[in-house]
Order: sequence, then C-alpha cells, then structure tokens
Amino acid sequence: MRILSGIQPSGVLHIGNYFGMMRPAIALQADGEALYFIADYHALTSVRDPDTLRENSRRIALDFLACGLDPERATVFRHSDVPQVTELAWILSTVAPMGLLERATSYKDKLARGMAATVGLFNYPVLMASDILIYDSDIVPVGKDQKQHIEITRDLAVKMNETFGEIFKLPEARIQAATETVPGIDGQKMSKSYGNNIDIFGDEKETRKRVMSVVTDSTPVEATKNPDKSTIFMLYSLVASQDEVADMRERFLEGGTGYADFKKGLFEKLWEYFAPMRKRREEILKDKSYIDDALAHGAKRANEIADQVMQRVRRAVGLR
Ligand code: TYM
Repeated sequence: MRILSGIQPSGVLHIGNYFGMMRPAIALQADGEALYFIADYHALTSVRDPDTLRENSRRIALDFLACGLDPERATVFRHSDVPQVTELAWILSTVAPMGLLERATSYKDKLARGMAATVGLFNYPVLMASDILIYDSDIVPVGKDQKQHIEITRDLAVKMNETFGEIFKLPEARIQAATETVPGIDGQKMSKSYGNNIDIFGDEKETRKRVMSVVTDSTPVEATKNPDKSTIFMLYSLVASQDEVADMRERFLEGGTGYADFKKGLFEKLWEYFAPMRKRREEILKDKSYIDDALAHGAKRANEIADQVMQRVRRAVGLR
C-alpha cells in the first residue's frame, strides 16, 4: 500500500495541519510505503518572494520531522524535486473538463478572499491530481477541505483510463472524522490564511495569547455551558486524556467556572502535548545535515517511482 500526502509551505504549521493531516500521516508510516512532500510548486500560487518560499519549505520539513516523520520509514521530499509532476499535470489538463475545475470550491474561496484569478490557481487541482497519481498512491491522508481535490483526482484518473487504457490506480482520501476540520480561535476552520491559527511551534507567550483569545459566548461564570458548541472544549479534546476531557465536560455542565479558566487549562495541555516535538526540533536543529540528507534521500526515491509511472503514461498517450 502506498500512502501519499502534501503540505504547502505558504506559512508556518498550525495545529489544524497537525491533527487533520500530520498526525494521521505519521501514524500511517508503519502501514505501508509513505511519501510526504512539501508542496512548493503549489505555494507558488500565493508566495511571491523566493527567499521566503525556500525558507518556508525548509522550515516545514523541519517541523514535520520534529512531529515524528521518520525519514528511515517515510520518503520526505520537495515537490519541485520531482519536476515530472508538471509534465503529468499538462497531460492531465488535456483531458480535464473545464466544468469540473469550475466547480472547485477552493478556487472560488481563494478568489473570494482576494487572490488574483491566475491560471495556476485555477489549475491547482490538476497539479494536485498529478502529485497523487504519479506515485501510484492508494491512500491520501488529508483534512476535509481537500476532499473535493481527491474526488477530482479520481475523476481525472478515470478519464485517462477510459481514453488511453488502464494507466492509473484510483486513490482514496483518508479523512479522520474527529479531526476533519479543526476550528481556529474564531470557531471557523483553522487556516493560516484566515489568521485564526494556533501554531505548533509558536513561542509560549504568543501561544498563550492566541489561546486566551479563543472566541466564546457571553454565558456568565455561574451558568451551565455547552461543551459541544465550545471551541475551547473541541481543542481540549485533541490534547487532553479521556479522563481530563470528561472532567472538563462536567465542569462545563455544572457551571461555576468561567471561560478564562477553561482557556488556561487548554493552554497548559496544549503546551505539554507539543513539548516532546519541541525537544526533537531542537535536536534536529543541532544536526546540520539532517534535513538536507532526509530531503535528498527522499527526492531520490520519489524520482524512481515517478520515472516508472511517467514511462507508462508517455507510452500510453503516444509520446516517445
Ligand atoms: P494545506 O497545506 O492547506 O494543508 C495541509 C493539510 O492540513 C490539513 N488541514 C486541516 N485539517 C483539519 N483542520 C484544519 N483546520 C486544517 N487545515 C489544514 C489539510 O486538509 C491538508 O491535508 N492542496 C493541499 C496540499 C497538497 C496535497 C497534494 C495534499 C498538494 N498536493 C497531494 C494531498 C495530496 C493543501 O493546500 O494543504
């Protein structure tokens, strides 16, 4: 079984990325051949400064490794280490129906947020389909916001197979129900572009500040509160033990505790949860060649697979 996923280096990693994709992806390293990449070609649709893109890409690799990605077990690489994906994206775009891409919600969302309507942004799902299909991927661990992209990938694979014969496997999205959409401090989906993120490796003061500014309703201290409508409670459930979560639920329901106290409890658990990752991050930073070695090794393996699949594709469509 081959498992594949990607993450854009368009900012720093937040706990939505962690619980939605990174944690499940790290757990899947043991179940098959895992390939995880830093989607720098994709980030070109929003990052316009070359130094920032290079720094972000390295930092995402560092942070992912610090969170438990093991380069001995998983293949970790940069998207742009495998330029063949852009060739496959072109081939896929020749069968991709305009209407399919016009229905892509993430494109519409990005325009609504003020991004320029570039061809690259419109074509994003085709490049993403290529990222997945070029490795004969079976399983794609992602958050819910990527579900439509995996459906488009399957549609394009079917189109190619119908047109040119059986070339591609049909990949499946693996979405964890409990963490499919981690809320941000305003209760909306956590996202770097919404500015509602809590970062995995933010400094202590800033992280505390972000947690203390989680939006709540105006229920008075003594009144009973609804845990199931509370962002504090949802985030706490991700980082606390079952007993601790049950205890917080009870305290919500019995009243007498204010939101500020619950937020303090959330901050403490959150800070404790990521402590081993912060430690591992420091260790990796001391090892000057760790990240580059991991990426170089990953690039080699990713290219081996991509070359094989591209030979198959070129032959099938009549190139060479
Ligand atoms: P990106 O970089 O926006 O996010 C990386 C992963 O984190 C998940 N995620 C979340 N999950 C739950 N709750 C949230 N609040 C939350 N925010 C982010 C995303 O669902 C994603 O899994 N297009 C992709 C990158 C990509 C890719 C691929 C993924 C490019 N090629 C091929 C899989 C396969 C993206 O922009 O993810």
